Amino acid sequence: MSDRPERNLALELVRVTEAAALAAAHYMGTGDKEGGDRAAVNAMRLILGTVEMDGVIVIGEGEKDQAPMLYNGERVGNGRPPAVDVAVDPVEGTRLLALGRPNALSVIALAERWSMWNPGPSFYMEKLVVGKQAREAIDLRLGPAENLHRIAEALGKPVRNLTVFVLDKPRHEALIREIRATGARVSLQTDGDVAGALMACLPGTGIDVLMGVGGTPEGVLAATAVKATGSAMQCRRAPQSEAERARVLAACGETWDEILTQDDLVRSEDAFFAATGITAGALLQGVRYEDGVIITHSLVMRVKTGTIRYIKAIHQMDKLARISSIPY
Ligand code: FBP
Repeated sequence: MSDRPERNLALELVRVTEAAALAAAHYMGTGDKEGGDRAAVNAMRLILGTVEMDGVIVIGEGEKDQAPMLYNGERVGNGRPPAVDVAVDPVEGTRLLALGRPNALSVIALAERWSMWNPGPSFYMEKLVVGKQAREAIDLRLGPAENLHRIAEALGKPVRNLTVFVLDKPRHEALIREIRATGARVSLQTDGDVAGALMACLPGTGIDVLMGVGGTPEGVLAATAVKATGSAMQCRRAPQSEAERARVLAACGETWDEILTQDDLVRSEDAFFAATGITAGALLQGVRYEDGVIITHSLVMRVKTGTIRYIKAIHQMDKLARISSIPY
């Protein structure tokens, strides 16, 4: 038997994101960001322990001692091979969930051990993501306008028919102005650039491109899905404070602003991605409560084969209440 993750772990991972989404869903619209995250972390960690793997958290809830669970370096799984790196975001879009806005997801990615990029002290990165059809068109060294023209040409439609996902942050004022000047349409979202990247990669979501600066951990998670879908991502560290810049420079030296692709962020084809919707969005439906059952919608991907599965699960509230310690 190979020690490499040959089996489709994504199908087991979906139980992990489902559990986190089910636990977090009660916090929709409560205004309690931390509560929703805590519930998701607890549930995710419990189910992760049942997955047959020897996992190390590479992208987690923070460094040891700052986050009590799912911290970077924590061992997860039942300890048996395969040896894997694990990236988690129990609630991607904590504010989206707390305010009952669309696109809060529970997300996990897994890859062969030592193959996931470690962001180190880098919290933010500039990202450019497009789907398969425009994968050869992007170049982060060029400005947003030139990239949009190249993407439009690759997609065979005018620039004004492109829709660009951008996080609605003050740091993006100039970027938004530049996109608008090309005539392209902008979808401004307060949070959730993993969902934005997934939408850029998948057909039929209404999003053609993701542009702008977001979290580095979210970049690694998104890169796994980008690889699975044959899409393209280019990114580079984009420190947002003097302190972050100094730490990044000290850690990376002259290479701090090099351009990285999805293959730098996840260096193995033995990689898997799963996400479950917590609140409804264009990508996935959210957790729904109906007649004694809870319904979840998830997306799972295997990088090696490129297989994408949408999984609808119907959870029996009474049975779960009897056997699980998680308050679903
Ligand atoms: P959280 O779920 O950790 O709140 O992250 C949400 C998010 O919008 C990410 O999708 C994005 O990458 C990041 O925050 C952007 O960070 P900031 O809000 O600090 O600009």
